[in-house]
Amino acid sequence: MDCPNGQFGCPAMLSFVRRDCPSSRVPAVGTCSGPALPLGSSAVDRYTSSTYGDGYADIYDDWYDMREETGASVAWLSRVADGRPILELGVGTGRVAVPLAATGLEVWGIDSSLPMLERLREKPDGSSVRTVHTEMSTIALPNDAPPFGIAFAAYNTFFMMTTREEQLDCLRRIAALLTTDGVAVLDLFIPRGLVSPSGGVEVTSLAVDRLVLRAYRRWPTANTFEGQHVEITDAGVRLRPWSMRVMTPTELDALADEAGLCLADRWAGWNGEPFTDGSRRHISVYKRAEIGSPLSG
Ligand SMILES: C[S@@+](CC[C@H](N)C(=O)[O-])C[C@H]1O[C@@H](n2cnc3c(N)ncnc32)[C@H](O)[C@@H]1O
Repeated sequence: MDCPNGQFGCPAMLSFVRRDCPSSRVPAVGTCSGPALPLGSSAVDRYTSSTYGDGYADIYDDWYDMREETGASVAWLSRVADGRPILELGVGTGRVAVPLAATGLEVWGIDSSLPMLERLREKPDGSSVRTVHTEMSTIALPNDAPPFGIAFAAYNTFFMMTTREEQLDCLRRIAALLTTDGVAVLDLFIPRGLVSPSGGVEVTSLAVDRLVLRAYRRWPTANTFEGQHVEITDAGVRLRPWSMRVMTPTELDALADEAGLCLADRWAGWNGEPFTDGSRRHISVYKRAEIGSPLSG
C-alpha cells in the first residue's frame, strides 16, 4: 500500500497552529482570524463538490487502505445500528459501506463524485450498497429511502463541504432523515497544531521514478484548509486538489444545536477510545434534540 498522507492518511489530516491565539489549546477557529495573507486567490473559487472525488477516485483505495480502522468503524456502526438502515455521506469507493452491508444491514451511500461511485459499484459486493449521486448539503434521496438509524460521515468527509451554510443544511437534512431514536455520527480531526498560515510542502512519497508532494495552506477568515497532492512521474505531473472547512468540536456542537441535533457521546476513535483534551480526532454522536435519553455504549 502506498499511503503518502501522514498519520491518518486523509488529504488534510494535518493540524495547524493558531500563532495569533497562543493561549488556546483548542482554539475557536472561526473567532480568531490571523493577519491578511499575501497568498492570492483561494483555490476554493474553482473548487466544486466533486473536485476531490473526481481527482482521487483512481488512487483512493491504494492510498487509503486502512484495514484496521475500517474494521473498527464497521464493528462500531453495525453494533449501534442494531438492524436499522444506515446512510453514509460521502461514501466514496465504499471502504466502510461495502463491509458494513456485508453484516446484513441495509446501507445507503451518497456521493457527489460519479467516478467515486463507479469505483464502489464495480467492486465484487458493490451492488450491496444503494448508491445515490447527490450532495451532502441536500441529500436528495429516492422516495423508497427508509428512515435511518444512523447517518454518518467517516474520515473528515463532513469538513469537505466548504461553507458553513452547506454544513448546517447537511445537519438539518440528516435530522430529518433519522428515525426518532436515530443518530448522526461524524468522524473528524481536530484542527490545531503546526501548520503556519502561509502553508507548507511535504514529501509524502519518494521513489526512483515517482515523487508525491503535499502542498497546503489555510485561510483563517473562512476556516478553510486547502491543498494539493502533486504526483510527479516520467509521464508528467498530476494534481489532486482538496479543500476543507474545518472547525473545533465546540464549534461543531454549536452548529449541530442550530440544526436540531445535540451531542450524545464523543470518543477519540472507533474502538471507543476515551476523548480527552489531547485527542487528535473525535467520533461525535448526535441525537435529535427533541429525543430525551442519551445514547448508551
Ligand atoms: C475522504 S473521502 C471518504 C470516502 C469514504 N467515506 C471513506 O471513508 O473512505 C470523501 C468523499 O466525500 C465525497 N464528497 C466530498 N464533498 C462532497 C459533497 N459536498 N457531497 C457529497 N459527497 C462529497 C467525495 O467525493 C469522496 O468520495
